[in-house]
Amino acid sequence: MCGITGYIGGDKTTDVLIDGLRRLEYRGYDSCGLAAVDSKNSLYLKRVSGRVDALDKLVAEDPVKGARAGVGHTRWATHGAPSEDNAHPHTDCSGQVVVVHNGIIENYLELKDRLLASGHKFRSETDTEVIAHLLEEKLRSLNVQAAAVRSDLLEPVFFEAFRRTVGDLKGSFALSAVWSRCPGMLLAARMHSPLVVGLGEDENFIASDVSAFLKYTKRVVFLNDGELAAVRRDGVDYYNFAGKKTAKDSVTIQWDSTMAEKGGYKHFMLKEIHEQAEAVENTLRGRLLPLGGDILRTEVGLSAADLKAFSSVQFLACGTAHHAGLVGRALFENFGIPAYADVASEFSDRAKLTGKGALVVAVSQSGETADTLFAVREAKASGARVLAITNTVGSTLTRESDYVLYTHCGPEIGVASTKAFLGQLAAIYLLAGHFAAARGRLPGGDARRYAEDLLKVPRLIEETLEKEKEIARVAETFSSSDHFLFISRHVNYPIALEGALKIKEIAYVHAEGYPAGEMKHGPIAIIYKGMPVLAIAPSGRALELMAGNIEEAKARGADVVAVVDPSSRKLVKASRYITLPEVSELFSPLLTVIPLQIFAYYVALAKKCDIDKPRNLAKSVTVR
Ligand code: F6R
Repeated sequence: MCGITGYIGGDKTTDVLIDGLRRLEYRGYDSCGLAAVDSKNSLYLKRVSGRVDALDKLVAEDPVKGARAGVGHTRWATHGAPSEDNAHPHTDCSGQVVVVHNGIIENYLELKDRLLASGHKFRSETDTEVIAHLLEEKLRSLNVQAAAVRSDLLEPVFFEAFRRTVGDLKGSFALSAVWSRCPGMLLAARMHSPLVVGLGEDENFIASDVSAFLKYTKRVVFLNDGELAAVRRDGVDYYNFAGKKTAKDSVTIQWDSTMAEKGGYKHFMLKEIHEQAEAVENTLRGRLLPLGGDILRTEVGLSAADLKAFSSVQFLACGTAHHAGLVGRALFENFGIPAYADVASEFSDRAKLTGKGALVVAVSQSGETADTLFAVREAKASGARVLAITNTVGSTLTRESDYVLYTHCGPEIGVASTKAFLGQLAAIYLLAGHFAAARGRLPGGDARRYAEDLLKVPRLIEETLEKEKEIARVAETFSSSDHFLFISRHVNYPIALEGALKIKEIAYVHAEGYPAGEMKHGPIAIIYKGMPVLAIAPSGRALELMAGNIEEAKARGADVVAVVDPSSRKLVKASRYITLPEVSELFSPLLTVIPLQIFAYYVALAKKCDIDKPRNLAKSVTVR
């Protein structure tokens, strides 16, 4: 859960690295650093415990001269506390080799013992530092006779030492190394952690993801697990871990760098909340009509016949993406298609029960979530086929799945997922519609109506977003509450869970999401006078029972905020209302979640929380 950047080219090395690190801070932000080789082939190294702004200041106070290659890192601690010593880059004993790493080296203790025994001195508690010392060891074993050798002639030695180092590592890594005696080449390797190469004009880049260098180039090459890259100013060579050269194609990324900036909003989260109509529209575009035909075949590889043949659908995901999976389960069940939704980290035994005929739908914004990837591997081992719903082109999940249905949300920078959730829901509604139509569950004009209603949702999202100020006022009245309860039923029950998750993660308050009918079986005891209860109660089959559950909460003193539509408002008696446009109950989660996101945002804002980078969290969770 770290971000790495690398650059080789002109004399703007530290600017490129810092700029890239700023954009990668969402991957982790407890410490950061950079290293570059200066004009005298000495290593320049700056590290801080804290954010990239502090690193930028440090570099400005003592700038490097003539650096044309370097690496940077923003860290999310896995081994060793967040501190300057533990910040990357890490060096060897000679101070000539420097390494940045994202992932976990599982055999680092064993390697460290070996290196300590042969006299290496360690300065950090990290697993990464072993890589630098190991590389030093390999260089030594290749018997480099220092001073006499020209730096370009050292490149094959550096490459071979790096390749052998990588061969000794167990675990997950996206890794890059620089050797100050060989400043014309940057080396990178990937195993179970994302790494991309950016191809520029007379300059090249590496990073954990493309947002780090989009400002400079949109031409990228995704490294696969088990691949190495030798990056020079004038070109990049790719190899497998055995050292055999491989050919790789570049792709052109459509996102532009301003899409990844805040665009006038105070926080990425708020900007991303406002991008949700677009996210849904882009995800649905061109993929809906006709429902149940072969429209997914060319893009995803699933024909109408495939959709008919699956025995069940099993959603796998974590956090917010799991809530999308829970909505998916309700949706598929509504169409009479057996469906299950599990938190990926709790899937283990169920994997064996997932039949060969099942379609596993793995939902993940990043496509790099370790728990989800692991569960997918288990499902595949049991014979199931896997469809990925993800926002990240070229992510590990896409490469490990049989089918991919991309959400088209653009980069999501706020740690709290908002537009990616809406994109995931849109993809799931799309999929459910095709499944249902292909299996005759949407007969007559129903399929067309389903598609047309879904296509109206982006406009209704815009309408919902117009309520922002009203929702903000309600949120501000509760900004000093320490406990929140979110209740709903049926297809909106996962939205209650999502509302509670949003406020927990960004406002650091205790919140529970509950099926409204379950309250009377115990949890109702926690309600006290004035406790904020957010009740999601749109029109539909769950409304009558919801209205009763709201009464039960009010009778215990709850201050109920009801999320309603004009019709349901007439039935629900609450202290306050947030009224949304009317939409069929089945599609209502695409709207009801929005006031809850805005509510959480304004509670967090009033509490002066670090909304885009909540404490203890990282955007991409690549450890289990
Ligand atoms: C919450 C949030 C997380 C993610 C979860 C899965 O706002 O962002 O709960 O949803 O970590 O991440 P992805 O979708 O990247 O697999």
